[in-house]
Amino acid sequence: MGAGRVGKALGRCLHDLGWHIGVVTTQSIPTARGAVRAIGAGHPADQLTRRVLASKVVLIATPDRVIMDVAGDLAQLGGNEWLGKVVLHTSGALDTSPLRALANAGAETGSIHPMQTFSGQSVPDLAGVVFGIDGSPPALKVARKMVRQMGGVAVRLSGGNKAAYHAAGSFACGHILAVLETATRLLMAQGFTRREAARALLPLTRQTLDNFERIGPRAAWTGPMSRGDFLTVQRHADALSSFPPEYQNAYKALSRLAATVLADDSGAVLRKLDVAFNPRQKGMEVKKARNKSAVG
Ligand SMILES: NC(=O)c1ccc[n+]([C@@H]2O[C@H](COP(=O)([O-])OP(=O)(O)OC[C@H]3O[C@@H](n4cnc5c(N)ncnc54)[C@H](OP(=O)(O)O)[C@@H]3O)[C@@H](O)[C@H]2O)c1
Repeated sequence: MGAGRVGKALGRCLHDLGWHIGVVTTQSIPTARGAVRAIGAGHPADQLTRRVLASKVVLIATPDRVIMDVAGDLAQLGGNEWLGKVVLHTSGALDTSPLRALANAGAETGSIHPMQTFSGQSVPDLAGVVFGIDGSPPALKVARKMVRQMGGVAVRLSGGNKAAYHAAGSFACGHILAVLETATRLLMAQGFTRREAARALLPLTRQTLDNFERIGPRAAWTGPMSRGDFLTVQRHADALSSFPPEYQNAYKALSRLAATVLADDSGAVLRKLDVAFNPRQKGMEVKKARNKSAVG
């Protein structure tokens, strides 16, 4: 159910591994046909059909916002024919509660979320990729089997705070992209071409990732903040005032985040950042202290 970026990639991978692909349902026949072509197997459909009940395992790879409706429609379609079948969704942010209608109908429900980005342009290598899995024991068993066969690593999610688990992925993927694109545009504003900017920045980012992996976050931390050079940090923030306000806001927020997660004494670094980012406030504090001592 749903065969866009993730559905096509997982479908292709599972088909290559010998899984039998049943009906492939999307919102239109052209996209369903395209998905069947990409997967290399299956029957295209643009609406729910009873053919889905022929499968022992159903993967829901629709956008998060429709998973509950799709599950409700599936439950209505099959009633107690769902008894013993396994239904997994691929959302990282949602637990199994959107599949409740199917669980009530007797299905074993769970989720299988690849911690990987699927752009739709190519199928990423899934070897070594962590899949967060969740669900009833029989659903977990199927999820583990899929992950193992795809060469991934299954990690059982407690279900306690799945949205926070997923937010980690946003930091490591979408937010990294936003930060890199901001850096690119800053260099382009200095006359670099996009290609030159990418050439300048990517070795830096790659080395940082390598250092993070090899020597850990604190040892990998370089740059003015790590050296206690708050004057330079202040200069950076000031220079960003001529760009869209989000640039400077993000720089300040990321500096505070770095202080929180990277500095040995985060409280002290956060106080220094407050001064660097609000030099007038510092001036006022000094003035206040002087007045107080004059009165005293
Ligand atoms: N993209 C990623 O990097 C990534 C990574 C890990 C997990 N995920 C998760 O995987 C799920 C799918 O994400 P995606 O990026 O693959 O989405 P996507 O590319 O937008 O694909 C969504 C698919 O669902 C179909 N669909 C939408 N509404 C439907 C409905 N009511 N009934 C049946 N099919 C429907 C769409 O059909 P049409 O093609 O006809 O519109 C499309 O085939 C989400 O839960 C997402 O959080 C995504």
